[in-house]
Amino acid sequence: MERPLTRNIRPGAEPLDLDGTRRAGGYQALEKAVRTMTPSEVTAVVKAANLRGRGGAGFPAGVKWELVPMGPDARRPKALVANADEMEPGTFKDRLLLEGDPHQLLEGVILAAYAIQAEVAWIFLRWEYQLARRRLQQAIAEAREAGYVGDVLGSGFRLDLRLHVSAGRYMCGEETALLNALEGKRAVPRAKPPFPQVSGLWGRPTVVNNVETLCCVPHIVDKGAEWFRKLGRGPDAGTKLYGASGKVRRPGLWELPMGTTLREVLEEHAGGMREGLRFRGALPGGASTDFLVEEHLDVPLDFESVQKAGSRLGTGTMIVLDDRTCPVGVLENLERFFARESCGWCTPCREGLPWVHEVLRALEEGRGQAGDVDLLAHHARMLGPGITFCALAPGAAAPLGSALGHFREDFEEHVKQRGCPWRRD
Ligand SMILES: Cc1cc2nc3c(=O)[nH]c(=O)nc-3n(C[C@H](O)[C@H](O)[C@H](O)COP(=O)(O)O)c2cc1C
Repeated sequence: MERPLTRNIRPGAEPLDLDGTRRAGGYQALEKAVRTMTPSEVTAVVKAANLRGRGGAGFPAGVKWELVPMGPDARRPKALVANADEMEPGTFKDRLLLEGDPHQLLEGVILAAYAIQAEVAWIFLRWEYQLARRRLQQAIAEAREAGYVGDVLGSGFRLDLRLHVSAGRYMCGEETALLNALEGKRAVPRAKPPFPQVSGLWGRPTVVNNVETLCCVPHIVDKGAEWFRKLGRGPDAGTKLYGASGKVRRPGLWELPMGTTLREVLEEHAGGMREGLRFRGALPGGASTDFLVEEHLDVPLDFESVQKAGSRLGTGTMIVLDDRTCPVGVLENLERFFARESCGWCTPCREGLPWVHEVLRALEEGRGQAGDVDLLAHHARMLGPGITFCALAPGAAAPLGSALGHFREDFEEHVKQRGCPWRRD
């Protein structure tokens, strides 16, 4: 089985330096693109490959790049941003790519910048990823020295490449809040439209793509759209970094064909549940997705299938719930995070999430009252899609609403038993 994204990654080992990267075929795609392809040909091959964004929403990368105004009357400077903020609870896939093969990301960034003719590219990095920071700094210095940055390979295409380390908020990963943060402003989301592709960083047409998305690009340019499409098992193309955390035997991360089923990830790769525990459910794509349960074990983890099953593929890194862990306690933990990380910009999110957290805490501490479960369900609806300014609150509402659907009796038991029935004092 082909594993293009992780082929050079040995967990725990130093990443390949520039020479090693080149010996392993790195930067070949960039050479090919700047010497033999026009920018629109690069976009066309990425579009034909059906590369869907790996940051959560699954928007096709080639289509996003095409939205950047490119004609002769659109000479405004443009920008490309690699979103390496990765603060979604349960998600650690970009970290592997950043620490394990920084040159692969750089090549993807430069290729995407070439496709949209950006004059500057930024890597927006999560504050806590200090090892990735050092490795990226080293790789950027090597790439600059070798002529991959600046006047790229003497082609006349000029690109400046900068690394920005986030001040450290989940909100900064939302692409328009990220742009505000880069501009030195408070990281609150912007109204859309205008979309960043038209007016983004300092008003420039800007493309924001996830790290994993960009890491796919060199391989598509090198091996072609059809090759990439065939890597996937179902409607979605390529491979995907799938992960599992929770009480599984072997928590981890694996590059597998897009469309691998939840059961295969859980049983074959994560080794199944730990001794004596049963699978109760999973948030398939990080904390801000809806629970899937036992009946969904054979759902292929691609964008459409997971959506049909009532959740989202999200980041593809699942958090597994077992039958000995209190789902209310899990929710209390997650909603504490979401409430803390709300940027405060819009009222339902700023006021609603702390309420949700407080009600969950009351249930856990034995202060729950009749009506609390309905109140939570009401909040889950009022924080859902279309009501708040950005996707943070709907993301927070997803595990809550679905937990109330699948595990409602656990919430009700907390009221009846005046506390958490799972707690052993
Ligand atoms: C609260 C919030 C946090 C987000 N955090 C990230 C993140 O850390 N990394 C990321 O790539 N996308 C994140 N996103 C999604 C981005 O807004 C955007 O959709 C993504 O970077 C686009 O890249 P893609 O098209 O390659 O998937 C976040 C969205 C929200 C609402």
